Amino acid sequence: MAQLEGDQKAQLKGCEARPASQRQVQPHHLVLLGAPGVGKGTQAELLSTRLDACHLSTGDIFRSLKTLSDSERTPTMTRALEYMRRGELVPDEIVLGLVAERGRNLLRSGGGFLLDGFPRTVAQAEALDTALARHNIQLEAVLEYELPIGKIVARLSGRRICPNCQAVYHIEAHPPKVSGICDICGAALYQREDDRPEAVHVRMEVYKKSTAPLIEFYRNEGLLVAISAEGTPEEVFERTILALQQRQDKVAKTMVER
Ligand code: AP5
Repeated sequence: MAQLEGDQKAQLKGCEARPASQRQVQPHHLVLLGAPGVGKGTQAELLSTRLDACHLSTGDIFRSLKTLSDSERTPTMTRALEYMRRGELVPDEIVLGLVAERGRNLLRSGGGFLLDGFPRTVAQAEALDTALARHNIQLEAVLEYELPIGKIVARLSGRRICPNCQAVYHIEAHPPKVSGICDICGAALYQREDDRPEAVHVRMEVYKKSTAPLIEFYRNEGLLVAISAEGTPEEVFERTILALQQRQDKVAKTMVER
């Protein structure tokens, strides 16, 4: 995946936070965890604006590979897209290579980072721990979004994406002003291939088998913060900010008591 670096079409989304030297507040280092379609990307966008943190979505990076021509795309990239289309996980070594290429941007971000869709396996989580320890960075929390499966499927089936600016809509919860057209750039919206029912089924199974074990992994590390994803995006966002504040207060109290 080395050719991805510097490619305008596959740029790291939302990673233009000010350098650490210009900031007064502590950077946030957060992971967003939860089943496909629970609303991680939506919350990451809101959080990245509020916290001035860099949003890394491995799913967005893989989707941006589609904009490359056949000659620009390496065999590894083509392979990654095939896994994604079927709703399966891209192999760990490809994902870790991709994240490593963007590691410097993430670590330079003065506002910190929000990892959305990564890590997704215990092996990825262990690799992240090792990389962060090397840079003396500790995760602040892992936000685990929870929603009943029926509501998740409704969110996925109604999702529409802009192929140009990647804006995310929902036909009922967050419709564009003109049906099928992006409010921001006017491009025709599309439905993600992996939001088709057969791929959604595979993604849910993969989530249960490979990603849900991370809940226990991060609970054992004392980092897990469970958040209900019920309600509007704004309600979930306010709940998230409150949960982060409560966690910060709890950590501060523990440090004073020591
Ligand atoms: P990725 O893009 O990460 O997909 P995902 O985890 O399946 O998550 P989604 O993007 O589907 O959903 P989301 O939780 O972000 O929800 P959203 O905010 O969009 O990964 C795609 C694929 O890439 C994977 O299947 C895999 O193949 C590969 N991949 C990526 N990372 C990998 C890794 N680390 N390892 C291996 N493979 C990897 O919201 C969904 C919809 O609901 C939207 O329409 C939105 O508008 C709406 N909505 C959001 N919040 C609300 C709300 N509160 N109320 C009503 N509607 C809402």
